[in-house]
Amino acid sequence: MTTKIIGTGSCPGDRVVTNDDLAQIVETSDEWISTRTGIRERRLTTVLGTAGMAAEAARKACQNAGIDPEELDLIVMGTSTPEYCFPNGACQVQAEIGAVNAVGFDVSAACSGFVFALMTAHSFMKAGTYRNALVIGADDISKIIDWSDRKTCVLFGDGAGAAVIRAEEQDGIFHGLLKSDGKKWDVLTCGARTAGNFLTEKKPELGYVFMDGQEVFKFAVKKVPECIRQILEETNTSQEEIRYYILHQANERIIDSVAKRLKEPLEKFPMNIQKYGNTSAASIPILLDEMNREGRLKRGDKIILSGFGGGLTWGAILLEW
Ligand code: ACO
Repeated sequence: MTTKIIGTGSCPGDRVVTNDDLAQIVETSDEWISTRTGIRERRLTTVLGTAGMAAEAARKACQNAGIDPEELDLIVMGTSTPEYCFPNGACQVQAEIGAVNAVGFDVSAACSGFVFALMTAHSFMKAGTYRNALVIGADDISKIIDWSDRKTCVLFGDGAGAAVIRAEEQDGIFHGLLKSDGKKWDVLTCGARTAGNFLTEKKPELGYVFMDGQEVFKFAVKKVPECIRQILEETNTSQEEIRYYILHQANERIIDSVAKRLKEPLEKFPMNIQKYGNTSAASIPILLDEMNREGRLKRGDKIILSGFGGGLTWGAILLEW
């Protein structure tokens, strides 16, 4: 038995915001942002928000898979920017797409959200509980950004990506690892907007993204190659067999550095950060969808997906397309 991705979809934010646009509101420049991150522009959502983008990506993924939403058994959504504390975003998507037979819930693992959601859904497949699942990564990060903080506001964009997966009888590879290091929880945070209550007489505070950029950089370039090597070893797979490494699009320099550490050519690391910025949990499924629609993925290709982010959390999945 194995788990296969049978369809993908995506929905980036609707409004293009260039580096020059940001230079109008904070002291920054296209040169600073693009040389340090690779980002030229990002897309922010002005209408749909997290659940709306997620539902649009989900609809497209179902169409691409040739599946009716009623056939879905499970919806798992990786997000750290749901619209409500409850209900979870996956239930909103369920209603919007008419997945009346599915059960939906969210997983919270920041930028690792899609990889965590995909492994969660796969575990249900492997256990034989469900057959068809929708896995989503969606974030409306722009609503939790302090737009006067140039250290963070230039990095992010909004979007959603989705994949329909199916439990197949045939043999095939689907192997992943999820990791976290709670001791470093404070290097990448967004304070809860519900802190403070009646008894403490504190007013709820608005939380914004805080990031120790250099710590995140060091963490990512060390842990991602380590994790990839571990799954290669556990599956007895050589690096030569890997067609693509599809990494969380946080920063072009992180991806360059991972490629160097693995001694792999950069061509095996597709990137679209230039036009979307860091879309958190959505970055991997958006890239996957673009590659799928461009016909760059062939059945049988072995690919590795790897996410990393707040928690700290990270993980990787080796799968056969
Ligand atoms: N425009 C112009 N100047 C800026 C900007 C900006 N947008 N942001 C910071 N600076 C200035 C700082 O104020 C500082 O100036 P100073 O020396 O006068 O104090 C100088 O640039 C250097 O600042 P650093 O924060 O040290 O910049 P650094 O070279 O580390 O680059 C960056 C910052 C790009 C964020 C880097 O740390 C990095 O790549 N980190 C990886 C983290 C990452 O990509 N996070 C994404 C989100 S997390 C995730 O997805 C997992």
